[in-house]
This record gives sequence, structure tokens and C-alpha cells, in this order.
Amino acid sequence: MIFTDTSKLNFAEHYPARPLVLDHQLETNELFALERLVELSKSLPQNRVEYSSGKVPVNQDPETTPENGLSIEETILSIEENGSWMVLKNIEHDATYKALLESCLGDLGAQIEAATGKRYRQEGFIFISSPNSVTPFHMDPEHNILMQIRGEKTMRVYPVNDPDILTPEMHEAYHTGGHRNMVHKDEFETKATAFHLTPGKALHVPVKAPHWVQNGDKTSISLSITWRSEQSDKEADIHLMNSILRKKGMAPGRTGNHPLRDNAKAFGYKVLRKLSR
Ligand SMILES: [Fe+2]
Repeated sequence: MIFTDTSKLNFAEHYPARPLVLDHQLETNELFALERLVELSKSLPQNRVEYSSGKVPVNQDPETTPENGLSIEETILSIEENGSWMVLKNIEHDATYKALLESCLGDLGAQIEAATGKRYRQEGFIFISSPNSVTPFHMDPEHNILMQIRGEKTMRVYPVNDPDILTPEMHEAYHTGGHRNMVHKDEFETKATAFHLTPGKALHVPVKAPHWVQNGDKTSISLSITWRSEQSDKEADIHLMNSILRKKGMAPGRTGNHPLRDNAKAFGYKVLRKLSR
């Protein structure tokens, strides 16, 4: 068992729309020792390792993110002092980590499927970051639980349906190839909820809820477990349909206000996708 019974009960009440802090039992797991993570980084396809300087502002332009000048192994082993940010992507390529990911998600499987239907594309990401590094403001397309293993971080999460932060056009641009990073404005701050994560704590982040992360003053290691569902696919399809309608000069309106219209758009996009294959 990875998550506590209380966390599982609370998760059922909050998933999929609301953020929630959960308790887990991975903080002493040896799969997150730095030497073991070097081994993992060597077993992954090289395009699955991304790293850079972690000394960036919350509004970092993804085109100009500075490099740290080190190899992957050097970055991991000297993470305490090199001022870097690294992610090992799709750790499910490695059988041992795949099994770990499945244990985590299996723990919450019944709650997930009851709320959002069949789950698939289970993917894991390990973030290794230096003291005080920043993950800029962005959103992600999947259901996500960020599990803090070592060190501390504060994640600020913003509402997903606030058009001042995320306009319909931004949703559509994101699903048609736009970058995950977003522009952060000071006036958003009153709408943020800050979650302080310590080892043994995890945070459920709803699909596409904008967020940014500030590390504490120690090295941080966290595991992000993600999955897609019938519901997250449908959400994407509605925005993709809206994008087509907008390009044809129509005003597709906001999602969420008219469930029947949203269903029709998602269905319409599915048909178009099938026809275009
Ligand atoms: Fe994220």
C-alpha cells in the first residue's frame, strides 16, 4: 500500500476537479537514491531526460531556458550545489519503475475509474532539482499526483476555469501544439492556493490547472504519476473542436456551461478524427 486509507477516501471526494494533499509511503524508497537515479537515467532513451539551469523566473520563456553545462550524471550527483532542474520522463520504460507506478495508481484505481472512466497512458516523471530552483508557470494535459520524496517545495495552483488566467483561445492553442509554459501576472496571485509539500506528502493536480513550483532550500526529488482518462480525452476533444469552429469564423462559447453541447462537440471531433485517418 502506497497511499493511506484516509487519503484514498479523501481522494474519492476531490477527484477529478479539486486539488488535494495525500499521504504516501515512498519517502524512504531506495529507488530515489541519487546513484539509483543515475542508473535509471542511463536506462531511459536519451530524449527522455531534460535538464537545465533551475535559476529561472516564474515567467521563463521556454525558448531561452539556460543550460547548466553539465552531463546528466554530473547534474544528478552534484544536484545539491549545481543550481539545476531535471526531469526523467516516462520512467515506465524501466520495468522496476513501471511496477512502482502501477502500485501507486493501483491504490487509487477504483476511485479513478468511478469518477473519470477507464484510465490509460500511465506515465511517471521524476523531478530532481537543486535548492531554491523554480519550475515556471505552466499547465499539463493529464491527471497528475505529485509525490514529494525528498526536500520541500511549494506548489501554487490556480483555478482551471478562470478565463482571466486561461482563455478559451489559450486552451485551444495548447491542444494544437502550444508550449506548456504560460504567462504569469501578479494579479493572478489572489486566486492561487499554495500547497507546501514535504517528504511523504503528495498533491493531486487537476487536469490543466495552471501551477508553478518553488523549491525549498534543500535538494528536492519528487515523483509525478500521471494518467489519461475518458474524461481528460473528452476535455481535449472539446477544445480541439472549438478551435476548428473558431477558425471557421464561429464563436464556439465556453466549455462547461452546456454539457449537451460539449458532448456534441466531443463526439463531432471524434468523428472528424476517424474520417481523417
Ligand atoms: Fe506541472
